[in-house]
Amino acid sequence: MREVDPEVSWRMLHPRPVVLVGAGDIDGEYSFAPASWVTPVSDGPPVVAIALSEESCTRGLLLERGEFTLRVLSVDQVDEILYLSSVSGRDVDKLSVVGWRAARAREVSAPALDNALGVVECRVHQTVQVGRDDPRTGRCGRGRGGGGDVQRQARGT
Ligand SMILES: Cc1cc2nc3c(=O)[nH]c(=O)nc-3n(C[C@H](O)[C@H](O)[C@H](O)COP(=O)(O)O)c2cc1C
Repeated sequence: MREVDPEVSWRMLHPRPVVLVGAGDIDGEYSFAPASWVTPVSDGPPVVAIALSEESCTRGLLLERGEFTLRVLSVDQVDEILYLSSVSGRDVDKLSVVGWRAARAREVSAPALDNALGVVECRVHQTVQVGRDDPRTGRCGRGRGGGGDVQRQARGT
């Protein structure tokens, strides 16, 4: 196996599934961000970790209200997912652009989506500031990668 730079070794953990994070208030300001840095970290209590960049409008609303939803989408929604990731809810009513409608969640004020395969309703349990994103755990060290695909992932090409 060849050596991989510690700064980019985390890229070998990609590609990853993507879910749509919703935050805000369905009767007011809300936004949705496709995110792949989302993972279950405990089943007792059930906790997921999610890392959103500081620039994300969804992140701001999530921290402000302490609630969010995670929507599981299907592969035939990839064009919409890419669009939703290319603009910020701060600038555009992006859900309307793709023709989707926000729906009321059952237990949180954050918006759900009426055409999702599944939805998880969440309340913030803990926030951890690590570098530019939160939360992040497990500092990456030097990696090694064998196959060409893995090497390409690490290089980001
Ligand atoms: C496949 C995919 C995965 C992404 N994963 C993340 C992520 O885990 N965290 C993050 O902050 N942004 C992620 N993004 C980028 C956000 O979706 C993008 O910045 C979005 O415009 C944020 O919207 P907002 O400002 O309305 O919150 C991802 C984009 C794509 C295409």
